[in-house]
Order: sequence, then structure tokens, then C-alpha cells
Amino acid sequence: MTVGRPRASVAAMASYRPGKSATQAADEHGLVEAMKLASNENPYPPVLPIVEAVVEAAGDVNRYGDHRATALRAALADWLKVDAERIGCGCGSVGLLQQLFLAYIDPGDEVVYPWPSFEAYPVDAAITAATAVTVPLVDQTFDLDAVAEAVTARTKLVVLANPNNPTGTVVHVRDVRSLLERVPEDVLVVVDEAYREFVTIDLGYPIHDLQPQYPNVVVLRTFSKAYGLAGLRTGYAVADPSVVGQLDKVLIPFAVNHLAQVASLAAIAADVEVREVIGRLTTERDRVVAALRSDGWGLPDAMANFVWLPMGDRSEAISREIEQRGVVVRPFPGLGIRITIGTPAENDRFLAVLAKVAGARR
Ligand SMILES: Cc1ncc(COP(=O)(O)O)c(C=O)c1O
Repeated sequence: MTVGRPRASVAAMASYRPGKSATQAADEHGLVEAMKLASNENPYPPVLPIVEAVVEAAGDVNRYGDHRATALRAALADWLKVDAERIGCGCGSVGLLQQLFLAYIDPGDEVVYPWPSFEAYPVDAAITAATAVTVPLVDQTFDLDAVAEAVTARTKLVVLANPNNPTGTVVHVRDVRSLLERVPEDVLVVVDEAYREFVTIDLGYPIHDLQPQYPNVVVLRTFSKAYGLAGLRTGYAVADPSVVGQLDKVLIPFAVNHLAQVASLAAIAADVEVREVIGRLTTERDRVVAALRSDGWGLPDAMANFVWLPMGDRSEAISREIEQRGVVVRPFPGLGIRITIGTPAENDRFLAVLAKVAGARR
């Protein structure tokens, strides 16, 4: 029985199912232990200056934090060399994404995004009763011509994850620029750069290469992945001040909590140390890609902190077998398996398990 009258679009939604934890997988399969490479988390704890700053600030949490995260916005502006009024902060970049939908979407408005991509996009579309217009990937990557063609007079948002989750593929700013040339100025083009810091080829920078000319470009970034702060929840948007103003109206009070702000400020100050961690992860990623290719797997170039094995119909079964051997990975039924880059030992374990369960079947 349903109590109350939920909005039809929400009632029709499936409940969010977070990925399985390592402990749950171990219990389910009767294993002594398991490990998780399924949520694109950083396997390393935050660097020491961040941890120290959080520990020191823990005694202050009887007070609300600064709702506007003023110091953090200023520090981000300084860091990115943009004006502070161009920065918005949110409860993770998923928080900002939801704010964008809440601020811009009326029921029936269209949101265009390539697919498969980040699973929050259809969720936010459903919450706001948007019409989601998905554009199939071609060769595991975006077909930006098709994205441009999918835009209609009802389109309010175009969302591009760059690098894309789950494929790890990227598009260059010059291709995003060609898309922008074909999209009306009142359509926001969101470039979700959650994994930007892991990109090791020249892609250009939407913040500097596109935003001065195209005020409708919104860039989303996060401290969750490269900076290892997934559990604290800070995301930021770089956008036209008028967009930031709308986002701020729908920001839940104090959603960027005090410890998240303190940690993010410390992360900016510790950028050099963090870059070293990122370097370790991208080196490992490239090693894993090379190992998979030399084992005969076909996979796209990986530019985030995960790799994508397009296994089609075998994805679910193979993921289950991998999990039964203690490695939780993320299946996308019918499409592929996404594996987060862990520590070298974790990655070796994954490679060994994969070779055992699927080596003969690739
Ligand atoms: C493409 C993409 N954007 C945004 C996020 C969300 O990150 P955050 O932790 O900042 O909410 C993720 C997380 O998986 C992601 O894959």
C-alpha cells in the first residue's frame, strides 16, 4: 500500500540500489574476505594534511558550517583563475547536478545525454519528470553530431560526462565547441568532469577554452575521486554567475558540510601531494589496460580511474563469477563491466581472477 500521493514520476522510479560492499559480497559468497573495485573510489586515504585538517575541525561540528562555503569558493576561484561568483559548491557533484535539474527543468522538458553514461542522469530526469533523450555511443564514445541533432526547442540541458562513466572515453574541447556552435544559447551544456584529474592526454579546458565564449557551458568537478574525499561530499560548479545564482537557490541549507569544506580547502593546499597519488593511479591504470590488451581483451583507451570491458551479453555472468572469487566489479547488463583502479596488489588480483574466469572465453 502506498501512503500519501507521491508524484507519478517518483512513484514510477526504481529505488536506488547502491553497489555491493566488499563485506556483503564476502558474506554472500562465503568468503573470508573480498575487495571492491566497483564505485570508482580512490583506493588511497586522503593525503596527511587533509586528514589532519579534518581531525582538527571535528570539534567544531556542533555548529553549522558556512552555507555558502565562502572561503572554499574563493580558494577555488583563485586556484582555477576565475571570478568567485562563477563558482558554486554542492553536496558532491551529484548534488550540483540535481540542483541543475531542479533549477532548470519543468516536467516534460528534454534533457539530452549520450548513453551509456553516468546513472545519476536518468535518476535526476525522473525526479524532475524530464524527458530523457539518450544518444547511443559509437565505438564506446560520444557521437556529438548525434547529440547536436537530438537537441530540440524543448531541450533545456545537454549533459556530457568527460571522461565518460562507464566507458572512460573522452572528447576534446574542439569537438565540444562544434557541438556548442549547433546548440541554442539558452540550452545549458553541462560538462561533468568528475574524472578530469586522471586525464593524461591534451583535451583542452572547457573553463578557459569554452566558457569565455559560451556562457551556457557549465563545468562540474568533484573532490570525491582524485582527491579521495568521496565520503565527505564536495562538488563544485564553474558557470556563468546567473547559473550559479539559480543553483544556489535550490541548494539544501548547509549541504556542503563543515568537514567537507575544511577538507576541500586542505586538498587545494595539498595539490602537489595529491598529484603524486593521481600519478600512481594513472600509471596503474595504464598498466592494467596494457595487461588486459596483452591478454587479448579489446577495450577503449581509459582516461579515468577505471577500465571498461565491453563484454556485451556475458557481462553479468562474468561479473558474478569474478565476485564469487572475492572481487566486486560493476556490471552493466548487456554492455560491459567497469573495474575501478585499485592498489597494484588489488589490480593484480583482479587480473588473475579475470584470467581464471574468462581467460578462455574472450
Ligand atoms: C560522471 C560522474 N559524475 C559525477 C559523479 C559524482 O561524484 P560526487 O561524489 O562528486 O557526487 C560520479 C561518481 O561516480 C560520476 O561518475
